[in-house]
Amino acid sequence: MISEKEREYLVAIVNSIPRELVVISPELRIVAANDFAKDIYGEDMVGKKCYQVYYGIDTPCSKCKIIQLLDGEEKRKDLKNLYMEEEVTLFPLVGTDCDPCMVKLDFDITKIGKLEKKLYLSNTFLHNLILSAVDAVIAADKKGKIFIFNDAASKILGYKREEALNSVDIRDLYPGDGARDVMKKLRSKEYGGPGKLKSYRVNLVAKNGEIIPVELNASIVYENGVEVATIGFFRDLRETLKMEKELEETRMQLYQSSKMAAIGNLAAGVAHQLNNPLSGILLFTELLLEEDLDEHIKEDLIRILENARRCKDIVKELLEFSRRSNNKDYFVNVNKIIDRAIFLLEKHPLFKSIEIIRDYTDNIPEIKGDLQQLNHVFMNIIWNAAQAMEGKGVLSIKTNFLKDKNTIKILFCDTGPGIPEDILPNIFDPFFSTKKQGEGVGLGLSIAYRIVEGHGGKIFAYNKKDGGACFEIDLPVSQ
Ligand SMILES: Nc1ncnc2c1ncn2[C@@H]1O[C@H](COP(=O)(O)OP(=O)(O)OP(=O)(O)O)[C@@H](O)[C@H]1O
Ligand SMILES: [Mg+2]
Repeated sequence: MISEKEREYLVAIVNSIPRELVVISPELRIVAANDFAKDIYGEDMVGKKCYQVYYGIDTPCSKCKIIQLLDGEEKRKDLKNLYMEEEVTLFPLVGTDCDPCMVKLDFDITKIGKLEKKLYLSNTFLHNLILSAVDAVIAADKKGKIFIFNDAASKILGYKREEALNSVDIRDLYPGDGARDVMKKLRSKEYGGPGKLKSYRVNLVAKNGEIIPVELNASIVYENGVEVATIGFFRDLRETLKMEKELEETRMQLYQSSKMAAIGNLAAGVAHQLNNPLSGILLFTELLLEEDLDEHIKEDLIRILENARRCKDIVKELLEFSRRSNNKDYFVNVNKIIDRAIFLLEKHPLFKSIEIIRDYTDNIPEIKGDLQQLNHVFMNIIWNAAQAMEGKGVLSIKTNFLKDKNTIKILFCDTGPGIPEDILPNIFDPFFSTKKQGEGVGLGLSIAYRIVEGHGGKIFAYNKKDGGACFEIDLPVSQ
């Protein structure tokens, strides 16, 4: 039972609804109407036939839905349900003495249903679009709680979607104060307009702690002018940066090779010109020394002889440097050549407190190469390492066969001070040396570079994170 008051309210509600609400009897007579309907069709609509009121005709409409619905026992059962079509909803007024009166409401509930369905479909489509996007998409609310985390984001960062949504804060994905920095830039005008950040390079932290460089396009999401969330589209830059680095390395190698070729020609010319007069100086000094001369003159002559011999050595190095095609028709085993270089050097006092650790790959494929030249390369690198470590430390030598690249990789790492970053680009230049006079001419690495290049290989130098220099040589294995 409802109270009088309640009844009063319900009537008021029915009359306040800005929709036509009309009750029609099985004889198609309007038996009740709310104020909204009466405002349109007149106060006197109640008591009239519906077709008269609505269409001003004297006979029922040919396709009257109410007749169709009331027609026949079977159909009457349907009256328990709503009948809906464009713009109109009909339903039976149950529990009154006017059974089966019909309520006509000029409101298409199905339309709402259809709109909802459309909305649902478009939401699902957008959702799938975001989830399957190539770029990582991450959105978070103002508190940092992540609510969008797509497959690409999972792939880059290693978090499963559920994990990211439930237990990761957006700030955890940036190293240090990175998230705050991104927000600051997002709110400023300078990086794509306020609320936008375009093509910004930033680092993210993956689940395993790896730092991932990405390009970020982000924006703040506003609702009625209030900031409610941020959404970011991240592109993994690891491949791009790797390619850029390789390109830069290739460019540097090319630059280095052309420089070497020019210097090589020059060096060969100078060396040849110097060779004959030097041989003359040596020969005549030796002849003079056989004469019966004053001791102090002999001492001076010995000095001349020593210096001339040093000049001859440098000329020999220069000729070595400019040598192009050589004996590369033999198959050689790099492990054995390194062993030979060590054997030749280890008796020297400089190696007394140096430990050499060999980590060779057994059964390493042989390569076509010049044994003498490769020996020269390895001896130079080993000698440099011993000099850098000032006779005390560890030199690790590793050889490896990279099957997929058909290449042999040789790595020399020492525990010396490393190569200062500012001179790293110059160490392969001829006559570049940081050593005292008499300790180095600066030809060792430039010759090594030319020899490795002549074997179709590559040589790089870098510093280890924990100190010490590494030299890496890649030599192709001929088919
Ligand atoms: N293992 C190393 N650690 C630190 N610096 C190195 C190392 N190897 C080479 N260098 C640097 O590279 C420079 C060039 O080396 P390179 O072998 O070409 O010439 P050098 O050793 O100075 O003289 P040379 O080899 O002609 O006697 C060196 O002077 C040194 O500064
Ligand atoms: Mg050297």
